[in-house]
Amino acid sequence: MMCMFLEVRNLSVDLGQFHLDNVSLNLEKNDYLVIIGPTGSGKSVLLETIAGFFSPDDGQIFLEGNEITNLTPENRGISIVYQDYVLFPHMNVFDNIAYGLKKKTNDKDIIESKVKNIAKLLKIDHLLHRNPETLSGGEKQRAAIARSLIVEPKILLMDEPFAALDVNTHSYLTSLIKNVIIQHQTTCIHVSHNFNDVYNLAEHVAVMKDGKILQQGTLHDVFSRPSHNYVADFVGVHNVFQGKIVAHDKSLLKIEISPELIIFSSDDFVHESKEVMVAIRPESIIFSNERFVSSVRNQLKGVVKNMFEVGHTVWIEVQVKDVMFKGVLTPNSCQSLEIKKEKEIYLSFKSLNVNLMDCYE
Ligand SMILES: Nc1ncnc2c1ncn2[C@@H]1O[C@H](COP(=O)(O)OP(=O)(O)OP(=O)(O)O)[C@@H](O)[C@H]1O
Ligand SMILES: [Mg+2]
Repeated sequence: MMCMFLEVRNLSVDLGQFHLDNVSLNLEKNDYLVIIGPTGSGKSVLLETIAGFFSPDDGQIFLEGNEITNLTPENRGISIVYQDYVLFPHMNVFDNIAYGLKKKTNDKDIIESKVKNIAKLLKIDHLLHRNPETLSGGEKQRAAIARSLIVEPKILLMDEPFAALDVNTHSYLTSLIKNVIIQHQTTCIHVSHNFNDVYNLAEHVAVMKDGKILQQGTLHDVFSRPSHNYVADFVGVHNVFQGKIVAHDKSLLKIEISPELIIFSSDDFVHESKEVMVAIRPESIIFSNERFVSSVRNQLKGVVKNMFEVGHTVWIEVQVKDVMFKGVLTPNSCQSLEIKKEKEIYLSFKSLNVNLMDCYE
């Protein structure tokens, strides 16, 4: 029988007021699992239990078919990267990265070439002589990732690794890490609050709440077929369409989401087939009464079909050809645009905000 690369079986951890409750997870080699869920749902506790910092009251963990439930953290072959870059302050970047490797080998040439290689991949090879306190947040985090990867862990765990970084650094690191992970063939579990991480990195997604995993599956499963209304709510499933890439010009993809409806995406999607899933979050759609001149690639004319208030926002459904888009507005902008049912309106959204996902059907 083929065994899973990582199997977490019916894991329970009792922390007094909080319980990790009968959690099961399966990961194949080279998989990239992103765990999402509200604050306090147990994402970090789960990662730290897999890493060996909490001992389970019940359940087992298997790695490559071997039980590791009671092994010490350093004997599991698992590395963990945290949100706050924990580098050793008294060592320069080179020695920080080399730290774990030095426990495995004394060969200076091997150490030097491996450190240089990984530093180059993470584009920090010019910083190796620097002390950690002189680095920017993004540079520190790249050094922390390099330090974790250099020992070639069987699994890399990352607990909100980019959360403390600004948006630009975040997206730069996302694409960088994707590359490094692919080149190193590393199996990853990544906890994140950021849906762009999910769209850009995840092959599989798990949604946690109250110490339980509510759903795990492919990105497509979780986002378009949520098994639980909490999951649907949490992932904000709206504007998920099946589409077909009909043309691409450098970074711009032309996607047909219905026979008469073409939209543009600049997602750096490495597609093997032309069939894709398209996701546009409602917040990224801008509404206007007139067509306007801008660099926004997608401007569509539609008709308001429905509107309803949710808390301090107004949701509207706009039909464009035979496709229904959902958007969200403040009551103020709803008023100033004089939005009402059957009114014609323009929708604009950037090609950057058209996220593409693999089609699993
Ligand atoms: N060592 C501990 N002892 C007791 N309770 C703990 C311990 N560590 C975490 N908890 C509790 O377990 C619960 C889950 O915490 P956890 O840090 O896993 O949440 P999280 O999903 O990672 O949240 P966030 O998104 O805010 O990081 C919380 O209620 C927390 O207070
Ligand atoms: Mg956490």
